[in-house]
Amino acid sequence: MKYSAIAIDGPAGSGKSTVAKSIARTIGFTYIDTGAMYRAITLKALELNISDLGDEKNYEFINDTRLDFIDGKMHMDGRDVSKEIRSEEVVKHVSLVSSLLYVREALVREQRNLAKRANVIMDGRDIGTNVLTDADLKIYLTAKVEVRAYRRYLELKDAGSTMTLDDVINDVIRRDTYDSTRKHNPLRKAEDAIEIDTSSLTIEEISQMIINLFKELKHE
Ligand code: CDP
Repeated sequence: MKYSAIAIDGPAGSGKSTVAKSIARTIGFTYIDTGAMYRAITLKALELNISDLGDEKNYEFINDTRLDFIDGKMHMDGRDVSKEIRSEEVVKHVSLVSSLLYVREALVREQRNLAKRANVIMDGRDIGTNVLTDADLKIYLTAKVEVRAYRRYLELKDAGSTMTLDDVINDVIRRDTYDSTRKHNPLRKAEDAIEIDTSSLTIEEISQMIINLFKELKHE
């Protein structure tokens, strides 16, 4: 049986994960947060005290690392790491780790396997352009950088972070630049993706737009 797939890409704070989670709940798809997978590998590299995080030879540990999504939480080697992967330390290094070809190939393989076993909605940076190039629907979410940073700032504050809005703006700009200029599978809109500017839309509005697009497509 061929399962359905919805790919959602976009820069940090564009609303991808909140929207994807909400859509998954409504239409009964499995939500795969690929950013959480890159974050988990970054966390493990930090825990292993790898001295040169930019050297892909240091990442063979990925082959012995177990990543599972359980009730929407990221589990690494049987441990719920969903809080730790949002830490400042992980955020600081995740774009570097995600730029390494060895890391990307291993995680993309895993992501494609997950999509073979269920209807999925997957979000990230290269889902429409690389991971699921034949997804039924591809969406590219954008929003003005100040809006994206402010959303992220509120989330972090809620989680107890002391980062200032300026810190968050700088981090979002830094990661956007890094993610869109890296050599392997940089962040970019797939040619056949539908772009939605979420700056002045609510989560419900965006989710509904995407669900409608998916339904239209399926009735064609
Ligand atoms: O939620 P936010 O957009 O801030 O980030 P995320 O989706 O959790 O992704 C964290 C980082 O992982 C990004 O800044 C990228 O460097 C990397 N990433 C990637 O390279 N490819 C993906 N498919 C997903 C995330």
